[in-house]
Amino acid sequence: MPLANALQRRRSVREFRPEPVNLAEAGQLLWAAQGTTSSDGKRTAPSAGGTYPLETYLVAGQVDGLAAGVYHYRPATHELALMTEGDVRGALAAASMNQECVRQGAIAILFATVVARTAAKYAGSAGGYVDMEAGHAAQNLSLQAVALDLGAVMIGAMDEAAVAKLLQLPAEHRPRYYATLGRPK
Ligand SMILES: Cc1cc2nc3c(=O)[nH]c(=O)nc-3n(C[C@H](O)[C@H](O)[C@H](O)COP(=O)(O)O)c2cc1C
Repeated sequence: MPLANALQRRRSVREFRPEPVNLAEAGQLLWAAQGTTSSDGKRTAPSAGGTYPLETYLVAGQVDGLAAGVYHYRPATHELALMTEGDVRGALAAASMNQECVRQGAIAILFATVVARTAAKYAGSAGGYVDMEAGHAAQNLSLQAVALDLGAVMIGAMDEAAVAKLLQLPAEHRPRYYATLGRPK
């Protein structure tokens, strides 16, 4: 799909069919968001000073070929590491102001931030830089969803502490922004 068409068609989608996405689609979405594009580890999205402060998680509810659970995406090898088993979409919705779309979407892809990585180079500017970077990754993800005929909505309204606990994130990973995705109704 030409980029201009993806830009034209992108719209927040909040109603999804109760159908799975498949593993290839989930992998493509993760790659678009934070995958590597060169042998030195550089990624699809720009990064302030190449500090790469984003950690990406897949909340798999309904994925053909993948058990429900929370997975950590490893850009260097394009692999998923299982963190916890089970479908946590309902609990994620509860920790996100009970947004029904979060319950319905087949998956969520979450960006956690590690500001210290960027602060080591840019001190006081790091918080803003890291949030800007999450925006880059989110837009890559949104446009890739359109190109796969999937629906997506970005979610910023969440109780970060509750989400961190639910997903059992490492203490330094702050859940900041995520997309709920699935087959549009
Ligand atoms: C930082 C940010 C946070 C957002 N958080 C939510 C959210 O929690 N729930 C939601 O339904 N939409 C959320 N949105 C999506 C906006 O509501 C949506 O983009 C806006 O209404 C414009 O509609 P469009 O995306 O269809 O163009 C968020 C968008 C941004 C940029």
